[in-house]
Amino acid sequence: MSENINIAPEQAAPEKRKRIFSGVQPSGILTLGNYLGAIKNWVALQNDYDCLYCVVDLHAITVRQVPTDLRRRTLEGLALYVACGIDPEKSIMFVQSHVPSHAELAWVLGCYTGFGELSRMTQFKDKSQKHSDNINAGLFTYPVLMAADILLYQADLVPVGLDQKQHIEITRDVAQRFNGIYGDVFTIPEPYIPKTGMKINSLTDPTKKMSKSDPNPASFVAIIESRDETIRKIKRAVTDSDAVVRYAEGKDGINNLMTIYSSFTGKSFDEIEKEFDGKGYGDFKAAVGEVCADGLENVRAEYARIIKDKAYLEGIMKDGAEKALYLSKKTLSKVYKKVGFYAK
Ligand code: TYM
Repeated sequence: MSENINIAPEQAAPEKRKRIFSGVQPSGILTLGNYLGAIKNWVALQNDYDCLYCVVDLHAITVRQVPTDLRRRTLEGLALYVACGIDPEKSIMFVQSHVPSHAELAWVLGCYTGFGELSRMTQFKDKSQKHSDNINAGLFTYPVLMAADILLYQADLVPVGLDQKQHIEITRDVAQRFNGIYGDVFTIPEPYIPKTGMKINSLTDPTKKMSKSDPNPASFVAIIESRDETIRKIKRAVTDSDAVVRYAEGKDGINNLMTIYSSFTGKSFDEIEKEFDGKGYGDFKAAVGEVCADGLENVRAEYARIIKDKAYLEGIMKDGAEKALYLSKKTLSKVYKKVGFYAK
């Protein structure tokens, strides 16, 4: 007697979701630049990609850190990811030093990276000027560790601000070089850089990037500062004497504020120029301060709630580190085999 067999209709193999990796250094209080250039996009991307978001503490010690501050900021960094909307059910969040594969792959990749190519990195040149008393080897090999972060997880896309573009390019070069010798080991990642917000500039010197390590707090908007503080800082932002709200060369301060306004409202520069036609900088700055404070309000409220729950945050980092370790080990063991390390 023949049995009835239910044959499932043929299904197309589900398309593999693309992978994303990105991170922020816990080297200062996170700024509007970090939010608009990177984290805001991380949130938007997590529904369509498998995402890993890391607090990159190994990178942070390339510049001298106060240990208690670094520890605190690491937890705060993770809390901020959650407060900004990264969902631990959807994305993996973890602390870089909890997953030893990063340092391990960095060593291997360092042997496939040229001294010359590292010497050309603008971040290395900038930071060695800023910290001339501590030009350490870690500062020099920083991009190798960053390449390891990205390549370990076979990331397809890396959402970052403009300043990190060169580091993604060297990551691609190293991955291509390695693949050229050993076959297809690494996915070649692409940068994902937002059109608006890729470079938010300092409020006190708008020719320079807004930076969390700037010693002058008036130069940046911190994601978690008070509403009044944000409005006050933007009111005092350096502009020019032209008194016309217009996006133009040489108007770095106004261009920067227009970028911030556009990032929060979605309005184009043309629309912003029309909106403030005939109005002075005072009105414009007040409006920028308002949309910025409004745009960050939910994040601030969420952060104030979440930061109190250390057990919850530590649970997220522990769970994230386990998942990241599992994924990273797959790549690392492949790499070890390819280069000829004896299996244990
Ligand atoms: P970090 O910590 O300096 O900055 C974190 C992210 O914020 C972006 N960013 C900005 N975007 C626009 N305007 C600004 N003023 C601004 N300031 C910072 C940065 O481009 C970045 O996306 N090397 C990285 C951290 C890192 C990383 C990685 C990133 C380590 N490993 C792997 C991606 C993938 C850094 O120093 O970011």
